[in-house]
Amino acid sequence: MAQTFVTLLGSLRKASFNAGIARALPALAPEGATISPLGSVGDFPLYDADLQAEGFPPAVSAMGEAIRAADGVIIVSPEYNYSIPGGLKNAIDWLSRLPEQPFKGKPVLIQSASPGALGGARMQYQLRQCFVFLDARVFNAPEVMVGGAMAKFDKDSGDLTDQGTKDFIGKQLAAFAAFARVR
Ligand SMILES: Cc1cc2nc3c(=O)[nH]c(=O)nc-3n(C[C@H](O)[C@H](O)[C@H](O)COP(=O)(O)O)c2cc1C
Repeated sequence: MAQTFVTLLGSLRKASFNAGIARALPALAPEGATISPLGSVGDFPLYDADLQAEGFPPAVSAMGEAIRAADGVIIVSPEYNYSIPGGLKNAIDWLSRLPEQPFKGKPVLIQSASPGALGGARMQYQLRQCFVFLDARVFNAPEVMVGGAMAKFDKDSGDLTDQGTKDFIGKQLAAFAAFARVR
């Protein structure tokens, strides 16, 4: 059966390594699965309950709708100061306040890249903690934490070039698709 997944990107940087991973995903998806990007976390205002009381910003409502309609969400993000980048956390905070909270019961996959050796691992475990409260179904293994990013992406285009990393991501996507199929 066909499956649709959406990607949420935690970096706003034009030459982002994580954006390079997100762009590579559609071609690495298993047969029958399509992967498309959600809007930018940069389009959300800073979370403010007073602003929410005036009505959810259209970008937040639209992203919530797209997440509800998808079979799963793939979050691709850098690690900032051993934690979740503020823009991504802000987006999750907004989405979490929507009626029919869109992450509830939703299969979620986390991927990260960094020039450092750990590939954003610490951020991934902090993200998992948020999704405990939001009652999402976060995929456990295998984990994709792309360390040493300087050597794995094209310097001009920012595209992911490392074949071993591509192969491993393909395996993870296939396992995630199987996980998402089980209710
Ligand atoms: C504010 C800030 C904090 C950072 N903290 C970390 C960190 O804790 N761990 C890490 O591996 N890299 C850290 N970095 C380096 C990022 O991994 C690097 O800038 C990476 O390229 C960001 O991802 P992107 O290429 O997708 O934008 C930090 C970068 C910034 C700007």
